[in-house]
Amino acid sequence: MQVHEYDVVIVGAGGAGMRAAIESGQRARTAVLTKIYPTRSHTGAAQGGMCAALANVEEDNWEWHTFDTIKGGDYLVDQDAAEVMAKEAIDAVLDLEKMGLPFNRTEEGKIDQRRFGGHTRDHGKAPVRRACYAADRTGHMILQTLYQNCVKHGVEFFNEFYVLDLVMTEVDGKEQPAGVVAYELATGEIHVFRSKSVVFATGGFGKIFKTTSNAHTLTGDGVAVTYRRGLPLEDMEFFQFHPTGLAGLGILLSEAARGEGGILRNADGERFMERYAPTIKDLAPRDIVARSMANEVREGRGCGPNKDYVLLDLTHLEPAHIDAKLPDITEFARTYLGVEPYTEPVPVFPTAHYGMGGIPTNIESEVLRDNTDVVPGLYAAGECACVSVHGSNRLGTNSLLDINVFGKRAGRAAAEYAKTAPMPELPENPEAFVAGEIERLRTSDGPERVAAIRADLQETMDANVQVFRTDETMRKALNDIEALRERYKNIGIQDRGRRFNLDLLEAMELGFLLEIAEVVTVAAIHRKESRGGHFREDFPDRDDANFMQHTMTYRDQSSETEGIPGMRLEWKPVVVTRYQPMERKY
Ligand code: FUM
Repeated sequence: MQVHEYDVVIVGAGGAGMRAAIESGQRARTAVLTKIYPTRSHTGAAQGGMCAALANVEEDNWEWHTFDTIKGGDYLVDQDAAEVMAKEAIDAVLDLEKMGLPFNRTEEGKIDQRRFGGHTRDHGKAPVRRACYAADRTGHMILQTLYQNCVKHGVEFFNEFYVLDLVMTEVDGKEQPAGVVAYELATGEIHVFRSKSVVFATGGFGKIFKTTSNAHTLTGDGVAVTYRRGLPLEDMEFFQFHPTGLAGLGILLSEAARGEGGILRNADGERFMERYAPTIKDLAPRDIVARSMANEVREGRGCGPNKDYVLLDLTHLEPAHIDAKLPDITEFARTYLGVEPYTEPVPVFPTAHYGMGGIPTNIESEVLRDNTDVVPGLYAAGECACVSVHGSNRLGTNSLLDINVFGKRAGRAAAEYAKTAPMPELPENPEAFVAGEIERLRTSDGPERVAAIRADLQETMDANVQVFRTDETMRKALNDIEALRERYKNIGIQDRGRRFNLDLLEAMELGFLLEIAEVVTVAAIHRKESRGGHFREDFPDRDDANFMQHTMTYRDQSSETEGIPGMRLEWKPVVVTRYQPMERKY
């Protein structure tokens, strides 16, 4: 085992991790640990834009952006956090511009802006152009720009280091981080990184679902690692289904397609969003569009031989416009479905895209150990975190924004904390838990296969915890998950080697996925209302009197929730500053 010492350790090298590293790396000795090479991180798959009320192409201001974020999140957003994000959005975009990001430009040379779902002028009156973009490769450009700037600032990367544990130590009777334990994929060696601060920026957990826009790597590692260490998870029941995944595949077709004028149609050729959201139609928030699409299919107006998708129509757009603004996604349609978007509408259906919940933080990106108390020296940002700027439904382009605003805040705060904090003592044998797990899995020879359990998990989540949910479907999923957790105890892996043992990696990831799927499902059963991305057919209305609160789920051996031992679920108030909940019409 090797031991390293840094002031700050950042886990994850997507947008949030690298934005944090740029801040921290200029102030403190910083290491970034990432399970894949940084520029392969999933931020690179984000397509359509990053919003900020620059007002470059039409009137806009950060207060309208705040309002849209809160209303889009169906009033479960912490309003102080949304204000911070919308205000700091402007500098966040300008920071990236100064770092060299090649944004699309207006004729006068300003950063161009396009429409995106739920972003409106003057509190919902009409769609507004707020998304700054680089064609349909905005996330890719952000990732490359941040990486280049990390290199410029001398940030040290440990690539293909898989963080499997957070080391905690007791200070004044309370636990705080002393570092992390990582498994080096190339060698199979275990490394302990001792540090004063730790930042988690490990991304999402969309691989609990089968049909997803998420990469294979998105297995919720950081979320599960902190949960296993007794820290809570917030609002895990809220998962976003992006309306336009390529039908049957889930590959993302950016909302920018509708921002540029694309229209959703059913089998009758009807622009059905006119019925569901008469004011902003196809550019309603994602939860509303995804539900409307699913409803069209349920009511028999779906397309194709099985009537199981709808169509995204771009055929009225000029091919030159499509090529300039939507080059990648139109190529995806050609490559994966054999459809020519110039002349044919593209089959689409909702795809699991984004977890609104995660590791709870305050607006300084400090991790919370309960509703109010922070864990000194521990930070989280990006999709793995829940600062709650997205509430129960995130607006498109607010995630590239979130990673930049709160990644920056996390990196700064972690470095400032490290300036005065002493280097924490490591507990005895900090690697023991990880070493034991790795050996157990590496030598496991049971009859169960990782791929089979993962496939069954994803099937049941897709079938039962999707756009429409009921107590019955979710309990079915929960029973399945419990059975899969039993099967997981009897897995066997084939690769017994120590170098690049991806069998072992996948077995670890599956453990995280099972744990997270259980939390998502239990929290969803517990929330007996419909709000944002969580739509229950047995409780179809939003219930502010009882449920305008966040869920906080804890791993707790002495408790039981919804029949699941070892889990405790508590409620946390929503922060309301200016906007009282209203009926959510578009
Ligand atoms: O549709 C998209 O381009 C995705 C953007 C987002 O999730 O923010």
